[in-house]
Amino acid sequence: MRKSLLFIFVFLFQACFISSAQKENLVTVNQFVVIANNPGPVISKDIYGHFSEHLGRCIYEGLWVGLDSKIPNNYGIRNDVLFALREIKIPNLRWPGGCFADTYHWRDGIGQQEKRASIVNIHWGGVTEDNSFGTHEFMKLTELLGCDAYINGNVGSGTVREMAEWVEYLTSDADSPMTRLRKENGREKPWKVKYFAIGNENWGCGGNMTDEFYSNVMRQFSTYLNNYGENQLYRVACGPSDFNVAWTETLMNDPASRERFQGLSIHYYSIVDSWNNKGSATDFDERQWFQTMNANLQMEQVIKGHEAIMNRYDPQKTKGLVVDEWGNWFNVEPGTNPGFLYQQNTLRDAVTAAIHLNTFNQHADRVKVANLAQMVNVLQSVILTKDEKMVLTPTYHVFRMFRVHQDAQLLNTDLRCEDYVYGDRRISAVSGSASVDKDGRVHISLANLNPNKSITVTCPVIGETYKKITGEVLTSDAMNAMNTFEKPETVKPTGFKAFTYKEGVLTVTMPSKSVVVLELVK
Ligand code: AHR
Repeated sequence: MRKSLLFIFVFLFQACFISSAQKENLVTVNQFVVIANNPGPVISKDIYGHFSEHLGRCIYEGLWVGLDSKIPNNYGIRNDVLFALREIKIPNLRWPGGCFADTYHWRDGIGQQEKRASIVNIHWGGVTEDNSFGTHEFMKLTELLGCDAYINGNVGSGTVREMAEWVEYLTSDADSPMTRLRKENGREKPWKVKYFAIGNENWGCGGNMTDEFYSNVMRQFSTYLNNYGENQLYRVACGPSDFNVAWTETLMNDPASRERFQGLSIHYYSIVDSWNNKGSATDFDERQWFQTMNANLQMEQVIKGHEAIMNRYDPQKTKGLVVDEWGNWFNVEPGTNPGFLYQQNTLRDAVTAAIHLNTFNQHADRVKVANLAQMVNVLQSVILTKDEKMVLTPTYHVFRMFRVHQDAQLLNTDLRCEDYVYGDRRISAVSGSASVDKDGRVHISLANLNPNKSITVTCPVIGETYKKITGEVLTSDAMNAMNTFEKPETVKPTGFKAFTYKEGVLTVTMPSKSVVVLELVK
């Protein structure tokens, strides 16, 4: 009797202690288990994609300066930006928008540059563009970058014929009015186009359509998007933004709609406070840092919501989720055109990038494409330019560090970690993913979201042992550390040595607010 009372007492004591420990998150051992000998799905390199819209100074100035510019260029595309982008191994580039895509008429952007019709960019600052950057210039850019083209067609204000002819102009080798026109414009052979989107945000700037209306329109447009020769288009249907799973349900539950696309797009931007006042990109406090991290972690919930619906109708996972716009969206830099969405980039954005890329890696079985918004001079850019100067942002460095995951196989991992607590709110303090590449090298990427304390993570690496381990870390003293045109190297990766490896267990001590990537070689 006494023994059983004692047992009940011990049980109740443990139950109370464990539940309050969980509530208070007294997790003191941070653990990231990596199963190295049972690789999972390939992490599509295309989740490391980028986005270049006719918006502000992204295309004009940021990428395209024209042949006559004093800024050194190749075919009108600035060399400094080109060379820097090659370093991060851009797999695909989305163009021409965004909202701009559903106002863009591709025929205005071909032929002799001086004779091209201009376009007023109604969504972004109302500026008049001369269309000197068009189809040939974009395809040249992708060739120079060595990446695939992701073209976004115009559903909102375009016609089925216009879109069908664009695909024909780009990819057909047959003799036809479109291919003759292409040849007259100097391009003999067709290009390869991998991704083609059927409209952008057609629930909003792309025509304010309902989900059912768009579903029918998409079926119609898609019918005429031919695969010419060996070019197989991966058609991307416009999906919803954020948590709007109803739109996904409409597109997925109709078999006739489902068979017309290979990928479904979703957009999710991390916003602090409200759309009307999103806070400064550079001048922020810990509350805003915390809110940003919290919003970034929501990306996983967004993906899971849409995945759940896709899994019901497509359990074989033949359709990809295409997160073709993501990133932090803050107020524009003071004194800049509000329509140009120009924002600086800090260490906070670097941690954001790591969280997102880890999340996409972890969902490699469904997320097949993702595009950071945007590549140069707009929102969470990897590059900023000012006349002949260029600066690589903290976000750029994360893309450089994470490129090792491209086309590697995802490793199964299990993360148990302490919370990052701010006031009465708490979020996970660590983000991570791991992969093994075709040469058997394992890469582990981790981020410490806590700006106040370093965190030690124990990583048992199961199934294999390693002879050589190296690492890189990106961090800085201040949450808002940034690279400027005057001081371009304030935030950059350095060698990382704060780890030990004993009996198959890697123990990593990450500085506060940092991103770490480790390479393990057998
Ligand atoms: O990236 C800026 C804009 O955000 C895009 O043009 C649009 O698709 C989204 O609303």
